[in-house]
Amino acid sequence: MLRGPKGTDDILPPESRVWRSLLRLWEDWSERFGYDLTLTPLFEFTEVFARGVGESTDVVQKQMYTFSDKKGRSLTLRPEGTASIVRAYIQAGSPGELKVSYSGAMFRYEQPQAGRRRQFYQVGVEYLGADSAASDAEVIELGYRFLTEARVPGLVVQLNSLGDAQCRPAYLETLKAWLAERQDQLCADSQAAMELNPMRVLDCKVCRDVVADAPVPADFLCDACRGHYAQVRSYLRARNVPFTETPRLVRGLDYYTRTAFEYVATSLDAAQNAVGGGGRYDGLAQVLGGPQTPGVGLALGMDRILLARDSEADEVALDAFVVAQPVARERGLALVSDLRVARVRCDATSGDRSFKAQMKVAQRSFAKYVVMVDESNVVNIRLLSGGQDDIQVDFQEVAAWLIAHQ
Ligand code: HAM
Repeated sequence: MLRGPKGTDDILPPESRVWRSLLRLWEDWSERFGYDLTLTPLFEFTEVFARGVGESTDVVQKQMYTFSDKKGRSLTLRPEGTASIVRAYIQAGSPGELKVSYSGAMFRYEQPQAGRRRQFYQVGVEYLGADSAASDAEVIELGYRFLTEARVPGLVVQLNSLGDAQCRPAYLETLKAWLAERQDQLCADSQAAMELNPMRVLDCKVCRDVVADAPVPADFLCDACRGHYAQVRSYLRARNVPFTETPRLVRGLDYYTRTAFEYVATSLDAAQNAVGGGGRYDGLAQVLGGPQTPGVGLALGMDRILLARDSEADEVALDAFVVAQPVARERGLALVSDLRVARVRCDATSGDRSFKAQMKVAQRSFAKYVVMVDESNVVNIRLLSGGQDDIQVDFQEVAAWLIAHQ
């Protein structure tokens, strides 16, 4: 038997129903916040990620699906969306303020486990050309509203500021010196990260105790960054978005400046409990060869959201399933057609089957109602979950009745 590659998933019904409803919810919330859909390629020239995400990150060093095409050019399956979107923005002539949303598969060569996949699915937004703290707060609020309505249990918004090109160098020097004094207590990975990417050490699960008192970025912020951070917090309070200041929060990608945040589902295993994250990246456009352009964005991991929800897979997939006495089969199928045109989600069996056999299929269909058609002018409608008497509705009125009872 041929199997899908390690770390990939097939999302089949009924699980896929929950995916569909969550993707719709995402479309709804991102549109409500004014983000237009954007589609970019699933692969880019490797340089986009090598430069954008950062040479020293785990993503670039260990996790990219990189290959040569027939002309020997180095291409990479996208490990994330932000670098591609900023590349597309620059290619389009850096068109001022732009708010975009995206969703799709991302690829990282990871050690697969629950919530850590080699192909995984993100939804996200990028707000380009905006430097005010209000845009940070808007992006953070969008993720919070979506995750709350998606019923992610134990949701916490963690917030931090990582400083910028002004204040970060001094912080990094101090941190490096601090870490150098404790080098022999650090794990091999942290020792390797110390020079190139010392902030990653703060995030190391193994070295947690050693770095408990390490200097943190928030203590080194310049006045401008400190002011920006204070404004983000005050805008979040005004928007009623609860958050936890998390001075040790750093992110796995290099492009962040100032605001960094994560959405954590405390119900999940600590290693994979970030259901999303993001932040500000005011230097990224320049790194990719474009004009200086501020930006802020987020990405949420759908696979982890689904895990955290522990959702029941029995979401209603149809409003109605139509079953017909064999003599009224054509009427039944005509009704199905009319209902679909009237925007009712409905289905029926396709082959000729007995009434009883059709009822069996209806029962397994995850429909809300079963509509029973015979030669008379009245149909019987039954709530499939039971507990109610059948309701008689005029044949002409079925669509209106189902819409009113969706
Ligand atoms: P990220 O933190 O690398 O950020 O990924 C965002 C989310 O994607 C994570 O919190 C997690 O839920 C999910 N995720 C990441 N890797 C995997 C994996 N291997 N398996 C399952 N889920 C995963 C970014 O990607 C940034 N582009 C976010 C951003 C947008 N920053 C600014 N704009």
